[in-house]
Amino acid sequence: MIELKQVSKRYQGQAGMFSAVDNVSLTIDDREIFGIIGESGAGKSTLIRFINALEQIDEGEVWVDNERVDHFNKKQLRQHRKDVGMIFQQFNLMNNLTVEDNILLPLSLHHYEDTIAIDELLEFVGLADKRHHYPSQLSGGQKQRVGIARALITKPKILLCDEPTSALDANRTDEIVAVLKRAHQRFGMTIVLVTHELDVIQNLCQRVAIMEAGKVVDVVAIQTNTAFKDAKSYHERVLEVLKHGES
Ligand SMILES: Nc1ncnc2c1ncn2[C@@H]1O[C@H](COP(=O)(O)OP(=O)(O)OP(=O)(O)O)[C@@H](O)[C@H]1O
Ligand SMILES: [Mg+2]
Repeated sequence: MIELKQVSKRYQGQAGMFSAVDNVSLTIDDREIFGIIGESGAGKSTLIRFINALEQIDEGEVWVDNERVDHFNKKQLRQHRKDVGMIFQQFNLMNNLTVEDNILLPLSLHHYEDTIAIDELLEFVGLADKRHHYPSQLSGGQKQRVGIARALITKPKILLCDEPTSALDANRTDEIVAVLKRAHQRFGMTIVLVTHELDVIQNLCQRVAIMEAGKVVDVVAIQTNTAFKDAKSYHERVLEVLKHGES
């Protein structure tokens, strides 16, 4: 279980200090697929990066499996980060490494007891025929599948996804959503996914936190696919689609 307790993070902005994340409390269950949606600058990336301590909090507490992440020493952090995979909007692949070597990269950095065999993984993400290709020879969707395979190879308990489909067109987005769904079914990790794309939330997530200006203004269970309706605020528009169902 992931628990954020009244976490805040301040940055220096043009008009002085401001809260990028403002007193947020959230609980994410084991094996849940949990979305975080909000407009640009809402604090989504900052928030998700608290979970693997890539970002330090100013106030509050971050707990994962009843351990306090924001109090970890270096050794504990290293161990914790081995349990947390991450995929990124811009894929973050090494251009001078092949598909296979990109996926194997985490294993060359740390020792892992239990991993997924590279052949199985290449098959799983549909890149068996691309194993000796370089990133520059791949489409965006294929690059992201490499990113997913690289995150999965260490069998993470938690997979953090920061805008995994935002650099992709609609078809490739569906493809990545499908791969993440299958990965969740197969490996059963907790997935925390940041996006500003409502259809990704609807098609993949079980609950979603709606962020506005550093605050989580609501957490909504996802039930139905409905048409986008006119509503006043961003929060209301998201609710309209996710919660109220057909009317
Ligand atoms: N290192 C930093 N220094 C100063 N301000 C920062 C820093 N990192 C983020 N911010 C600011 O904090 C706010 C939240 O940023 P964050 O990246 O978490 O937003 P986001 O919701 O992920 O946005 P996007 O959808 O554009 O990725 C923004 O106003 C951003 O400019
Ligand atoms: Mg972001």
